[in-house]
Amino acid sequence: MNGLLKFITCGSVDDGKSTLIGHMLYDAKLLFTDQEQALLLESRVGSREGKVDYSLLLDGLMAEREQGITIDVAYRYFTTERRSFIVADTPGHEEYTRNMAVGASSAELAVILVDASRGILPQTRRHARICALMGIRYFLFAVNKMDLIRYGREEYRRLEKELRKLAIDLELANVELIPVSATEGDNLTSLSPNMPWYKGATFLEYLETVDTACEEKEQGFILPVQRVCRPNHTFRGFQGQIEAGEIRAGEEITVLPSREKACVEAVYAGDQKTDRGEKGQAVTLTLDREIDVSRGCVLVKDARLTVGGLLTATVLWMDDEELRQGKNFLMKLGTKRVPVTVMEIKYRTDMQTGEHLAADSLYKNELAVCDLAAAEEIVYDTFVGCRELGSFILIDRVTNLTSACGVVEHPLWRGANLTWQRMDITREMRAAGLGQKPLTLWFTGLSGSGKSALANELEKRLNVMGKHTMLLDGDNIRLGLNRNLGFEPEDRIENIRRIAEVAKLMNDAGLIVLTAFISPFRSDRENAGRIIGEDSFIEIYVSTPLEECERRDVKGLYRKARSGEIPNFTGISSPYEAPEHAALVIDTSKRTLEEAAEQVLAALERRIHGKEA
Ligand code: ADX
Repeated sequence: MNGLLKFITCGSVDDGKSTLIGHMLYDAKLLFTDQEQALLLESRVGSREGKVDYSLLLDGLMAEREQGITIDVAYRYFTTERRSFIVADTPGHEEYTRNMAVGASSAELAVILVDASRGILPQTRRHARICALMGIRYFLFAVNKMDLIRYGREEYRRLEKELRKLAIDLELANVELIPVSATEGDNLTSLSPNMPWYKGATFLEYLETVDTACEEKEQGFILPVQRVCRPNHTFRGFQGQIEAGEIRAGEEITVLPSREKACVEAVYAGDQKTDRGEKGQAVTLTLDREIDVSRGCVLVKDARLTVGGLLTATVLWMDDEELRQGKNFLMKLGTKRVPVTVMEIKYRTDMQTGEHLAADSLYKNELAVCDLAAAEEIVYDTFVGCRELGSFILIDRVTNLTSACGVVEHPLWRGANLTWQRMDITREMRAAGLGQKPLTLWFTGLSGSGKSALANELEKRLNVMGKHTMLLDGDNIRLGLNRNLGFEPEDRIENIRRIAEVAKLMNDAGLIVLTAFISPFRSDRENAGRIIGEDSFIEIYVSTPLEECERRDVKGLYRKARSGEIPNFTGISSPYEAPEHAALVIDTSKRTLEEAAEQVLAALERRIHGKEA
């Protein structure tokens, strides 16, 4: 059994986290005398009418906050005869998800407080889910405030059933429950006469005896290199903490990602030369030959790690700004820092129900599965395989703040082994051959707003002017290339992505492209702009109001949508997000088609003639 237990306490604001730990320390006589006296004195003026307020003990956190110091996680250390503990105390409010994630990332066990008088709260699920996400495998539900329900056995049993079900839903491993009263001290350090029906361990006893080390899998030797140490030109050592396995002098290791091999010459623990090192130790290794090793490389033996640039991960978004697909970050994984792009948000997970929801952006405290692309090959593992190389944080490159933390679900091989092939005939040469500047005129607006008619009219005029064009139209593309897509948000996202890629290819061929798609989501149009290139992309908002589109109802779809025959119909049962910075806005209810086409031509004349970007 591990001598040190690192745990985190989680609970809503008034669940009594601080009181629980404070009272346990007090009862176990683990306080210094001066702390004890200060506590008695302070409690006189405290909120418990002269009774000892044990929470004051842990509320160094609060005091620090009052002094204006931003403290995220308060770590307390204490030791009993049987074990040493580090407890991460984190604020309970939802706003502080970030701190919880930080506290949980280094903990082996989570103590989740549940208020017996209030039952399971949304926070309970949220905390349990985040702890599980951060790799905690041991959970203790401390069912607190048993005094408030008069130590009722039946009520406890009911709550226990619900908590067991929650544990199954969230797939939590190793779950225990203890009924306690943090204020009264029941079942903290000795079994309470108030609950003779409870025969399990006390809170302290559980903490002292729980074995969190028994599940470790054998996975070979892994040493992520933290630092290359060269005090003089004769010594070159590679330093880091051994994350798995053991190593002996003379054994052969492989350096990842380069896959170069060398033998270990010596192992140093501190400045002591030894012949072996094992998991958890910080060591310096010297090798028998000069090979290229730098910070972020991983030295391995018999370990199955992935070397690649793409991965699928669960990400907890913690920034005030929303996360959008395509955003770039600095990723810190193990000892490596590397630029990454969030290529795709595959789905968001509802914290309460676990349901998978379509999402094209993420808001603060939301959880999602995303595909990430690193700027270079990195060495990683799944989170289940190796916690250290299977978890990461994303750092905002402008603010330098931690925007997200995440865990690797699986590697992604798509796109591996592919390299961009350079072509001798360039886009510019093709365009010059056609005597024009490639552009994409992206028409967006409600169904029936006049996009297709306007794009068609415009294309005729461009052809008269001798321009080479192509018109991509919603229904036509959906009858061919995109016939496997429907109208759920994720289908619309894919619809627009493919069209943007096609428009880009056609621009590369030198053509002026006109597109007529509802493209209801702002982020999709932004993404299209990124794919096509901001220089070539011109967004035109056909702003004909819904009432007019519905009055026209050219295809009879609004009537069907109103009667419920068509689900997710834009403007009726699915949103349309109007552009905020369209190059042009045209309301076809206010002018004839010819006038509208003239208006577009007039506004874009210079760009169509390649005179201005
Ligand atoms: S988009 O939202 O993905 O951009 P797109 O422009 O390709 O839509 O296709 C819109 C056309 O599909 C509409 O003009 C209409 O004819 C047809 N359609 C069928 N079902 C729907 C729906 N639920 N919402 C919107 N349009 C629909």
